Amino acid sequence: MATTKEYGLGEFTFPRGWFMVAESAKVTDRPRGVRFFGREFALYRGKHSGRVVLLDAYCPHMGTHLARNTTSYVAQDGQVEGDSIRCPYHAWRFGPDGKCNHIPYSSGPIPPAARVRSWPVREHLGAVFVWYDEEGGEPDYELPEIPEWNDPAWVIGAYDDLGTINVHPQEIIDNITDVAHFDPVHGSRTKFFENEFRGHMAIQRMGGGHRTLVADGGAMLLTTATYHGPSLLLTRMSGLYDSWIIIAHTPVDDGVTQVWHNLLVKSASGAVASEQDRIAARAYQDAALAAFAQDFEVWKHKRPNIKGLYVQGDGPFLKQRQWYRQFYNPRAQREEIQKSVEGIYHAKGFAGAPQTKAA
Ligand code: FES
Ligand SMILES: [Fe+2]
Repeated sequence: MATTKEYGLGEFTFPRGWFMVAESAKVTDRPRGVRFFGREFALYRGKHSGRVVLLDAYCPHMGTHLARNTTSYVAQDGQVEGDSIRCPYHAWRFGPDGKCNHIPYSSGPIPPAARVRSWPVREHLGAVFVWYDEEGGEPDYELPEIPEWNDPAWVIGAYDDLGTINVHPQEIIDNITDVAHFDPVHGSRTKFFENEFRGHMAIQRMGGGHRTLVADGGAMLLTTATYHGPSLLLTRMSGLYDSWIIIAHTPVDDGVTQVWHNLLVKSASGAVASEQDRIAARAYQDAALAAFAQDFEVWKHKRPNIKGLYVQGDGPFLKQRQWYRQFYNPRAQREEIQKSVEGIYHAKGFAGAPQTKAA
């Protein structure tokens, strides 16, 4: 494991952007302690509103973790009241804005310092995302839409939580430019490959045969994989089925990363997915997850790649690492960094992708 500093990414330890913190279905009025960006949070859903709240975890009274307790009677009786949460230790209550709004045993005024930080969150694509920003600014890009999300012909999977891995996110992002690993790791018969860097997006377009996801020697697999910011990768894939792969990764500590995977599959049978389609979609998600696990296993056991020994034929790793720096530096530098890498890069020996013309 290596740190942001060792990769030379910039001023900030953790990148600026939207980051997945949980699958929506797992966020209830039973608070959960979660850890990201080297800090502890309390995550819960308001009782009647259904609103998701993410607060800094430690109570300003005496430092208790708001969401890692099961035995206090406050926790046993239910800590969430409306959109507020009670501390398990002395039952101070905090609103969704993080301000203390009730101290049960004190009739004096509530001190202004009785507050925790409340984080901007959004529910999207079946998940909860937080806007993380060391400058404390407003979001500077939107979370992307998947046009088929509400289409009944598409089956939406549940998120596979791959847990945490002792790998800096840089090593995961490297994958978007790694043309040379597709054949050895995934059994792709790559014919087309290109990368494009545009603003906050890094795009990979590729095409070719595939040993497992389409019949070998037969049909083509065309994929367009796009990083929307530093953590959310959406891949449109046409193969055995039309599908979308969602891969989200979020820094837990400097050099430790949590990863999720999900798949949306278009049903083969028609306008509304049947039970049979759901079973087929789950099997396809497992196949896609198995393909992703091939990358995961390499990451898990490799040493950090601080300075690679790149040769002709490797993808544009250095451009990609430069693109990634925009999230680790003040937003004042963003445009300059984006401009320095903007464009389409063809991998040596591969034709450009037909998807470029389609887009
Ligand atoms: S430590 Fe939280 S109420 Fe006392
Ligand atoms: Fe891969």
